[in-house]
Amino acid sequence: MRETTQPRTSRYVLAVGLVLLLCGLLFGYDQGVISGALSGIEEDFDPSTLVIEIITSWVTLGAMVGALVAGVLADRLGRRFTLVLASGIFVAGALLEALAPGTVVLVVGRLVLGAGVGIASVAGPLYGAENAAARDRGRMVSLYQMAVTIGIFLAYFADYLLIESNGWRLMLGISAVPAVVLVLVIWPLRDSATWYAKVGRRTDAEAVVRLAEPDVDAAARVDEIERGLASEQAASWGEVFSPTWRKPLVVAAGLAVLQQLTGINAIIYYANTIFAAAGFDSPTQQSLATLWAVGGVNVLATLIAVVYVDRFGRKPLLMIGSTGMLLSLLLVAGAFARLDEVTASDSAAHGPSNAGLLALVGMVTFIASFAFSLGPIVWTVINEVFPSHVRGKGVAAATALNWFAAWVVTQTFLSVVDLTSTSGAFLIFAFFCVVTLFFVHRYLPETKGRTLEEVQEMWTDPDALQQAISSRD
Ligand code: BGC
Repeated sequence: MRETTQPRTSRYVLAVGLVLLLCGLLFGYDQGVISGALSGIEEDFDPSTLVIEIITSWVTLGAMVGALVAGVLADRLGRRFTLVLASGIFVAGALLEALAPGTVVLVVGRLVLGAGVGIASVAGPLYGAENAAARDRGRMVSLYQMAVTIGIFLAYFADYLLIESNGWRLMLGISAVPAVVLVLVIWPLRDSATWYAKVGRRTDAEAVVRLAEPDVDAAARVDEIERGLASEQAASWGEVFSPTWRKPLVVAAGLAVLQQLTGINAIIYYANTIFAAAGFDSPTQQSLATLWAVGGVNVLATLIAVVYVDRFGRKPLLMIGSTGMLLSLLLVAGAFARLDEVTASDSAAHGPSNAGLLALVGMVTFIASFAFSLGPIVWTVINEVFPSHVRGKGVAAATALNWFAAWVVTQTFLSVVDLTSTSGAFLIFAFFCVVTLFFVHRYLPETKGRTLEEVQEMWTDPDALQQAISSRD
């Protein structure tokens, strides 16, 4: 057989990929699992709407704080040890949740677990990206995206298996297992060469390069890493918020917030509750609808983005996806308006009505449209718009904002439904889809096929920027 010229991905990098996969699974599992756990928690503790919202959403508050401190921890302790720490926090949170005697401990467990998720959501991709050779880096990011959606799917599957036996404690506790596996996988590995270089451990840095990229000259590669680090050191928070970089900051922060205000996590977290309102009577029926219509569709449509993002470009996919989300939200809102009428005239039959099935179709289309557009592409864009020396802090700020917006939506969704109606809540999300369409059309430059350096130069060249913004969408 002929030798290929493409160097093979080393076993070490595959092990790093496994770490990233586990981080994504953990993240996704904890996003999804609460949907099926809520009915059992309600049965056991009889919480008010506000307490249900707190139990559901405070995981995102914990994650916001975790994401904010993760950068400092990853620099001080190293990426690898930060991930071990995140796993420990994670296991503690999962156990608190699983053994909670009442809602207060449950909420504390959600916060603690959220902090673990937030730390891992920053340190995991950082560890993965720094350990991968340039040719594997794109694949690492896609792998992480896929893992998040697979984690959500697995959580829905656990919900489906355990819901009849009111197994919410087990549903929540299971997430400790991948965290323990994560520690076992990462323990024998080294930190990233970038971190070793940062703290002056050059011999260790070279040793890691020899493991990760056996075919390159380790000393030369570490020289290159050191040069990159020297030019990155300068950025302070002041510089991230300085007028020079306001445009990429607005683009990243705007997309981070709009990704949440268009409602994805109201559906991911409250899917079973929504399907119950749509007439899916038994918890098993609700769980099945959630498993396939939300979980399965989410995984499949994410694959489309992974394959096409570099072929079609970010802008067209975002415009098509946001339009699909807008139309499907209008459909869901219409279906729920009809469901409310039917319920009001008290002719509710058992099982989902036509309007209930229409709501299901709308939710499937919404999830699919999100999963090939705003879902993954927002993260791609956030990671490529900042110049390298402000990237770390810029990405952290956008990520924390994203968690904050997720918290606002999941904290208020049920109350907004109570105050207006289910269709009222979906119309608000539809409004933000219109804002997203305007924002992407007006402010987002196309970054497909440009090097990160070209993207950086564009922000200070008004003509080039305008040209990239008005490139086909
Ligand atoms: C979002 C998450 C969301 C997930 C759903 C991600 O891109 O940031 O908040 O739960 O997609 O697949």
